Amino acid sequence: MARFRTAQVAGALAAVLTFAPGAFALEGQNPGDADDPTFSRATIYRQVEKLRVLGRRMFRDPALSASGKMSCASCHDPSRGFSPANAASVQLGGVDLDRPGLRAPPSLCYKQGAPPFSRHFYESEEESPGGGVDAGPTGGLTWDGRVDAASQQALIPLFSPFEMANKNASALNALIEANYGATLRKALTDWMPQGPHPALQAAVKALQIYQETPQEFFAYSSKYDAYLGGAAALSDQEKRGLDLFNDEKKGNCASCHISLAPKTATRPRFTDDGLVALGLPRNREIAANADPAFYDLGLCGPERTDLKDHPEYCGLFKAPTLRNVALRKAFFHNGVIHDLRGAVAFYVERDVKPEKWYPRRADGSIDKFDDLPPQYWDNVNMEPPFGGKPGDAPALNDAEIDDVVAFLETLTDGYISNPRIGRR
Ligand code: HEC
Ligand code: HEC
Repeated sequence: MARFRTAQVAGALAAVLTFAPGAFALEGQNPGDADDPTFSRATIYRQVEKLRVLGRRMFRDPALSASGKMSCASCHDPSRGFSPANAASVQLGGVDLDRPGLRAPPSLCYKQGAPPFSRHFYESEEESPGGGVDAGPTGGLTWDGRVDAASQQALIPLFSPFEMANKNASALNALIEANYGATLRKALTDWMPQGPHPALQAAVKALQIYQETPQEFFAYSSKYDAYLGGAAALSDQEKRGLDLFNDEKKGNCASCHISLAPKTATRPRFTDDGLVALGLPRNREIAANADPAFYDLGLCGPERTDLKDHPEYCGLFKAPTLRNVALRKAFFHNGVIHDLRGAVAFYVERDVKPEKWYPRRADGSIDKFDDLPPQYWDNVNMEPPFGGKPGDAPALNDAEIDDVVAFLETLTDGYISNPRIGRR
């Protein structure tokens, strides 16, 4: 059985739920408080476990959508590292399941330990003795970091008109009440949230707690974990791939997708949670992109609205974990690349073979960075493995790209059948 830190358990149930202003506010007086002498760790533990089981069921339950046909698992398939099962760039949702989304659903694995969003992130003293440098915008959930808690996050798909499309909080509360009301009250006894929409409040908490389940969401059970633990050897090709992944002058992947455990954790999450502009090609399969004036600029909007006056943030998206990445079929925020080898090749060929990645304009010139208006091109990352000019040798040759892909394939969970869960 997983071990929990007391604070984590208490936080999971006792935190007051306050959601983003605007949409609607849910404020429950949740029961239990760490300072309350009647607050028993065992009681909280039991409530949390019951909510976890319910959250697991709700995650897979299409009854929570307006269509009656779409669940969280429709876009986040538990057997594929919580990525979509199909290869579409973006998924269809809405009342009639015919409304296309704007972004590729990310994996939901390894979100634990991701810091809340901040524009100026400093590494802890422990990780960077003497005080860290400003790592820039970092953290949060979604591709643009616009929410911090998984409970808040769940409200986005539950109400998005192109996802689960529930009309409003009252309608969804009624739906949850009809399907789970009695079960929730029984599980939570007199701990049911107070205030408006109690069933909805309990449901989003249950979904959050489910997504904190180590065995399913952060198992650290890949071949690479076995290798780090001394229980497996990497093949020669996988080892070469790891070295190229780490080498600052070659792949330099580990500068953003951290491959070694920080001192405070037992295993690396393969992301530094930083938001960076990679200058990906525009995906013409996304319906919103039929409008030439529309751009998904990530951190500066239009999905995220609080940083719209910050041109220096336009085009920045969050670096995802690369754990379980080999189970994905559409890569990057706009799902424009459909195979893992292509995703790796993009990095090393973007600047030296742009003709392979971007379309040509009518005059024959290459329309590089065609998903970003020119005034934001300075935001695009130029560090290795990027850089060089057309015709130069790429940072990784074809065989080396294959090696990196072979290494990335060692990051799929399930290699160790009975993992010892890390101490996070
Ligand atoms: C129609 C497809 C779809 C459905 C259904 C859906 N999601 Fe998502 N999910 C997405 C997309 C797309 C994103 C990225 C959104 C963005 O960046 O704006 C996302 C992002 C997330 C994230 C943030 C992950 C990260 O990397 O920061 C979480 C957590 C999440 N979803 C949980 C859920 C839960 C819980 C449900 C069910 C209540 C759900 N999703 C239903 C498509 C979906
Ligand atoms: C400067 C930071 C940085 C470096 C260096 C970097 N990445 Fe990334 N990576 C990102 C960001 C940011 C994204 C998401 C960008 C987006 O979707 O707009 C990403 C996305 C990815 C994805 C898509 C994952 C998914 O879930 O869709 C893959 C695969 C990937 N990176 C592999 C690599 C490899 C392999 C290397 C080295 C060759 C590398 N990255 C180097 C920041 C970086």
